[in-house]
Amino acid sequence: MSAIQTQYPNYSPGLEGVPAGITSISEIDSDRSSLTYRGYNVHDLAEQGSYEQTAYLLIYKKLPTAQELADFNELLGAERQVPEQVYQAIAALPKDANPMDSIRTGYSVLAAYDPDYRADVMDFDAKVRKAVRIIAKASTMVGNGYRISQGLDPIEPNPKHSSAANLLHLITGTEPDPKTVETMDVSLTLYAEHGFNASTFACRVTVSTLSDLYSGVVAGISTLRGPLHGGANEEAMRMILEVGTPENAEAWIRDALATKKKIMGFGHREYKKGDNRAFHMSKVAKQLGIEKGITKYSEIAEILERVMLEEKGIYPNVDLPTGYAYYLLGIPIDLYTPIFAVARVAGYSAHAIEQLTHNRLIRPKAIYEGPTYLPYVPIADR
Ligand SMILES: CC(C)(COP(=O)(O)OP(=O)(O)OC[C@H]1O[C@@H](n2cnc3c(N)ncnc32)[C@H](O)[C@@H]1OP(=O)(O)O)[C@@H](O)C(=O)NCCC(=O)NCCS
Repeated sequence: MSAIQTQYPNYSPGLEGVPAGITSISEIDSDRSSLTYRGYNVHDLAEQGSYEQTAYLLIYKKLPTAQELADFNELLGAERQVPEQVYQAIAALPKDANPMDSIRTGYSVLAAYDPDYRADVMDFDAKVRKAVRIIAKASTMVGNGYRISQGLDPIEPNPKHSSAANLLHLITGTEPDPKTVETMDVSLTLYAEHGFNASTFACRVTVSTLSDLYSGVVAGISTLRGPLHGGANEEAMRMILEVGTPENAEAWIRDALATKKKIMGFGHREYKKGDNRAFHMSKVAKQLGIEKGITKYSEIAEILERVMLEEKGIYPNVDLPTGYAYYLLGIPIDLYTPIFAVARVAGYSAHAIEQLTHNRLIRPKAIYEGPTYLPYVPIADR
């Protein structure tokens, strides 16, 4: 046992396994590989619900009735527009800026145009109003942010579109077909919330200082960007493209493991027996491939999955099948993580509201291991 472990037996690097707060938003049951949002299994929400119903559930703590859903959709539709100044800020970024930087910048600017934020209104209803705006505008910001990066003009969002349809409409510039919208909607539902993951935790830490919801969302998006978290869906697809063919897959993965490579789209801090969302998304992605007559990506993924399980006992996570599902939908790879953010802002908002409702400043202790009590040496004598 190291000296640090002896002195701090409760210390866990990366806070692995450390309970860091109480929530009633979602539960990850690692033993059963299951994920529930406010008690409802994500399978049911993805199969029978929708992203909008999920967002409603996360924010309002109950599934909507038909009338409540219709009202919520109308509200989201009315809030989809993004101020011109947000587009100007995104356009001011270098053309090759990472789209995650665009959406992070977009939310920073958007905050300053939110009427409740400007008025510094922090009561419960104002938080919910902000959450609705944050959720409604995410798909517009990513879709039109992409258009701006391509030198195209932003498109007016259709207030009748769902988040999935709005996103696809703005990215492609055409009316999306229902099957594509359905696939996107399932992925948004599966991505909407996931307990105290790194980005949601960053969001909660931020608002625990009594900072605002928008600051929490910006912190969340900044944290989501990395390849160990949201960035993995892009890296997983780049990996599948590098593998190239099913025939090449086994040799590729064995070689990668022999050289101790991290295999993107595999492994999870919470799920050691498999990621429930990956099971669901794999089925959807495989079916999509069959319908499009392009099955090589799911075939490659299945070979990688088999060898990873045999050699390392590690399962795929949701980012692997989502990566090739998005690829089959024709979505540019750089947009995969921003699309994850479009979904996850619902989770961030619910967590920010929950944190602020029972707030206690999040401020853990550091274990200091540097030198101590050094005599101060005047600058001339150093
Ligand atoms: C997600 C992730 C960061 C979780 O990591 P963690 O809980 O800290 O687990 P560790 O990194 O400590 O991994 C434990 C062991 O499994 C191995 N491992 C975990 N994920 C691996 C992967 N994707 N490829 C290869 N080996 C992996 C580690 O190398 C380590 O092996 P070791 O004990 O021989 O050193 C990690 O699995 C990972 O980096 N995955 C790839 C990125 C990814 O897909 N992220 C999206 C998550 S939804």
